[in-house]
Order: sequence, then structure tokens, then C-alpha cells
Amino acid sequence: MHRSIHRKHMTSIQDIKKQFPIFQNNPSLTYLDSSATSLKPQTVIDAVNQYYIEYSANIHRGIYTIAEKATQEYERARKSIATFINASSPEEVIFTRGTTESLNLVASSLGSEIIGKDDEIVTTIMEHHSNFVPWQEIATKAQGSLVIIPIRDDFTLAVESTGKSQISDFISSKTKLLAITYVSNTLGTINSVKDIITAAKKINPDIITIVDAAQAAPHMPIDVQDVGCDFLAFSGHKMCGPTGIGVLWGKRALLERMRPYQFGGEMIDHVTVEKTTYASPPHKFEAGTPAIAQAIGLGAAVDFLNAVGVEKIHQHEVTLAAHTITSLKKTFGDRITIYSPPAPYRSGIVTFTFGKYHAHDVAHILDEEGVAVRAGHHCTMPLHTHLGIPASVRASFYLYNIEEDVKKLVAGLKKVEAVLK
Ligand SMILES: Cc1ncc(COP(=O)(O)O)c(C=O)c1O
Repeated sequence: MHRSIHRKHMTSIQDIKKQFPIFQNNPSLTYLDSSATSLKPQTVIDAVNQYYIEYSANIHRGIYTIAEKATQEYERARKSIATFINASSPEEVIFTRGTTESLNLVASSLGSEIIGKDDEIVTTIMEHHSNFVPWQEIATKAQGSLVIIPIRDDFTLAVESTGKSQISDFISSKTKLLAITYVSNTLGTINSVKDIITAAKKINPDIITIVDAAQAAPHMPIDVQDVGCDFLAFSGHKMCGPTGIGVLWGKRALLERMRPYQFGGEMIDHVTVEKTTYASPPHKFEAGTPAIAQAIGLGAAVDFLNAVGVEKIHQHEVTLAAHTITSLKKTFGDRITIYSPPAPYRSGIVTFTFGKYHAHDVAHILDEEGVAVRAGHHCTMPLHTHLGIPASVRASFYLYNIEEDVKKLVAGLKKVEAVLK
């Protein structure tokens, strides 16, 4: 039953693969590094090209036809993104360069204002450096502290409902911020962010909550109102969109209250020699000429993901990841260590260490076999220190991956053993 559903599903995924021209140029490529950046479908490439070829004017300035068209398309992309994450209004969607800039914006405009001496910022051991270093920096400057939620042996957060620890062990009246990833980019763990945020706000309703959705927005349906967070950040390039564009979603009341992040053109209301007043969100946070083509490309990416169905993408990846874990264990037994949580916490990321072989050597030999994986610490050094390993190999799946890719990964690892033994 399960197998036949999967087969039927794979047929349509094969069609999806055809929409990514990179596979025509690299026919033997097995791309298992979508967590680093995703490949781009033709519709996104076309949308970016179309902007440059047909209406490459600046936005929110010109009153001529192509400038109005550029403004319309840029704002249309904002609307599509707002709908994609169920924001209550497009004004809550700010275009940034990516997750890193989104998180730094909150840290700089809000975090540094509200964190004082002895205050606490709660985060987790599985964070990407983007959702760790900005908070560490602020805590250090303000003489506050970082409180770290650890993980359990099954690679889920210690505060998940099945564990002994509770969020009340970490949140107190001193907590000002909770910064948590929706999905770990190394373990692939899907955190129960809604439950964790609800429980945290029950203890201290004034906490500001920030969700890093870099590995969630491309892969599973997101509803910011249901999650109940105050901010949510993600990157366009990981979700079939161009590089150089990302999103910060924030609750309107907080965005109104925050200081601008950068100052200059297009973010002002009125400027005199004495004083400047600022535009309303989102423009207050989009100083200067933004990444217009990239924003329009991200709008096209969202249309593309919606047409495929984000829940369907999620199911496809989870199935491939489960299949990978089973195949790796069956083929290599104790020689491979897999750092994956159990279902339902598991996403489309499978990270492992392979015997005594260094992750970079493994990735290098896999590349000779046409298999692209990531090797290193994946910008999660505190997590790797906790796991007691310097580096790991990560295979991450997306909508264009097929079962054949899993076979090529396993075959490639057999070659690794044969070469390095
Ligand atoms: C969980 C997570 N957060 C943040 C980032 C940073 O994203 P970007 O480099 O696009 O700013 C990444 C990128 O790998 C990530 O996986």
C-alpha cells in the first residue's frame, strides 16, 4: 500500500525534475545539498530574466509604465509570500538578503534595545550560527546570558512533550527572547515550535519569540499565526528562489515599535535638516534600492511551490529520508552513525559520520561519483561539539530528488570504503 502510493507520487516528481534546467546541463548530477541552497526551476529563471529584459526599472519611484510594472510585480511577490505563510497582512513581510540578515535585523533593531544586564536569551544547541551568534553577541554586550536548551539522545529537543525536561526549566521572568529553529539544518529535527512558544508565553507573556524557518519554509506548510511567534525568518535561495533575497515576517505592532535597521532612501516619511521621521513597515526596513529581480523571482518560486503543493513536497522528502536511513543501516551497519530523530520529528535531512573517514574525504569521493553532499560542521559548531565530532556528512533532499539518488548515495559510499580502506 505504502509502496504503491510512493510509486504514483514519484511519477509526478520525475516531471518536476524536468523543470530544473540544471539537470539537462548535468545529466548525471545527484544533488543532495538543497539545505545549503536549492536548484532553480525554469519559471523562476524566466521571471528574473523577464524583469531585466522587459521592465528593469527601479520601484516606488518612477511614474512611467515600466517603473509601475516593476513596483507592481515586487509588491505582488510580497503578497504571495504573505499568503504562503498566512501573515495577516503583506505589510508584515520585509524583504531582506536572507535568513542571516533577517535575524540580524531583529537582533539589532529590537534585541539590543530590550536586553539588559542579567537578562536572558533562550536558544537551543541545534541552532545555525545565524540564529546563535547574533544573540550571543547581544547577551555578551549587555552582560546578560544565553540559556541553551539541549537535545536528547534521540536528537530531539529536551523540551519536547515526551521528555523529562520542560520549557519551564529554561524560561523565567528574566527571559526576554526565545530564538529557536523550526527545523535543524544538521539533524533535520522538526521542533514543535508552536507548543514550545505557547508554553513559554504562558510562563512569561512578555517574551519575544523568533523562529528561524530557513529549513522549514521551503519544505513544509507554515502558518505564522498558528505558530504564534513574533518573528519568522527564511531565505529565498533555499526554496527555489534566487540568491540575495529573504524574508523577515514580524507582528505589525512590534515592527511599528522597532527602530529602522539601516537608514537612507525610501525608508523615510519626511526629512528636514533637523529631524527625520520614518515610513511605516515594511518600507521602514527596506532602505535603498532593494533586490528587485530577486524578490520577483522569489514570488515566482512561491507560485511554483504552491502549484506542486508544499505538504506533498514534505511527504516526498520524509519518505526519501526514511528510505535513505534504512538503506544506509542495512548496507553499512555499525560502520555508519546517523544523527536523525525518529518520526514525526524527521524531515528530509540525513546527516552521518562514516567509520574513521573524514567527512571531506567522503564528500570528495562522492563527488567523483556525481553525488553532491555537504561536509563540515554546517554552521552548527556548538551542536557538533555536543555530538563530539568535528564534522559530518549531510544529504538533504528536495522535491526533485528521486529514489535513484538514494541508490547512487549508497553506491558512492561503497566506493568510499573501497578507496579508503
Ligand atoms: C537553519 C538555518 N538558519 C539560517 C541559515 C542562514 O541562511 P542564509 O545563509 O541564507 O542567510 C541557514 C542556511 O544554511 C540555515 O540552514
